[in-house]
Amino acid sequence: MIDPFGRAVSYLRVSVTDRCDFRCVYCMAENMTFLPKREILSLEELDRLCSAFIEKGVRKLRLTGGEPLVRKDIMTLFRSLSRHLDSGALEELTVTTNGSQLAKLAQELADCGVRRINVSLDTLDADRFQAVTRWGNLQKVMDGIAAAKTAGLSIKINMVALKDFNEHEIVPMMEWAHGEGHDLTLIETMPLGEIDGDRTDQYLPLSRVRASLMDRFTLTDIPYKTGGPARYVTVEETGGRLGFITPLTHNFCESCNRVRVTCTGQLYMCLGQEDMADLRAPLRASEGNELLSAAIDEAIGRKPKGHDFVIDRQTRAPAVSRHMSVTGG
Ligand code: GTP
Ligand code: 5AD
Ligand code: SF4
Repeated sequence: MIDPFGRAVSYLRVSVTDRCDFRCVYCMAENMTFLPKREILSLEELDRLCSAFIEKGVRKLRLTGGEPLVRKDIMTLFRSLSRHLDSGALEELTVTTNGSQLAKLAQELADCGVRRINVSLDTLDADRFQAVTRWGNLQKVMDGIAAAKTAGLSIKINMVALKDFNEHEIVPMMEWAHGEGHDLTLIETMPLGEIDGDRTDQYLPLSRVRASLMDRFTLTDIPYKTGGPARYVTVEETGGRLGFITPLTHNFCESCNRVRVTCTGQLYMCLGQEDMADLRAPLRASEGNELLSAAIDEAIGRKPKGHDFVIDRQTRAPAVSRHMSVTGG
């Protein structure tokens, strides 16, 4: 699948549910209306959809949410998709999770051929964790991360950098993550969906973070590539890897290789644009994949050049009206 700008699409992110057991303040409003269950693709339909994309050249598949691991029977989908790893058609099957269910599911994920997972964690302080997630339990997540390590999974911690909230925790988080052998990725907050607070107040440009880290640490750019948008450095003092995801200060759209599908089967060609294509109708219209395949081709043919994200005092409305949890980032 080649888009109009010559970029090959080989990475599919599939949001298996819009629901989440947390309500991170930068991601959702406290009161969210979730989709009625009848709108949501069944696990069998999700499998068919993923398999069709794999047939069309997807090599990396990430299940996201909401929180993917709260979807009922989600391990059935992982187990079934793992056949594409066994056949060699798929290079990576992975997940981005808030960690709340990992203590229970980490070993099963590893058994399905998952090798590397990304866990969202914005603070190591229990009270502040509860504040940012609105009701999450830090210990449960830490137990989950420990279980994932025991299961032999490589772990990348995702930390959204938030001004006046966790800026002072970036160094401790890095020291903890690297001490545990995990990668850490810092993420700039993106203006998706109405939240209760103001993103202008939360936004912390990572160019500033990087400069201040360089006063204390030796950062060396490395060509490490995961297929995701982070740019990595090694940190000499900790011996670990640190990634920067900078949609606002250093756009990475020109090397974009990904699209995402929602749990209702909508294909979004760009995280930062409203345009999408419905895949549920062609998926349900026939048992064969011809209509679905044509709908995917048509959509890839209009993948935009990049996002229009801005965060400034004038533009307070989100650039994109849907929440991050609809497409799982
Ligand atoms: P790796 O395989 O470890 O590289 O993962 P990843 O960075 O692709 O996935 P993850 O789910 O950990 O995403 C981390 C952050 O990057 C999330 O906040 C995503 O919203 C953001 N992100 C992922 N892909 C894109 C993208 O195409 N555009 C933008 N603007 N942000 C993205
Ligand atoms: N901006 C940036 N990252 C976000 N995430 C959720 N909402 C936002 C946002 N508005 C992150 C989560 C998770 C990843 C999938 O996206 O923390 O790590
Ligand atoms: Fe790709 Fe859009 Fe993300 Fe840019 S913002 S990297 S074009 S999905």
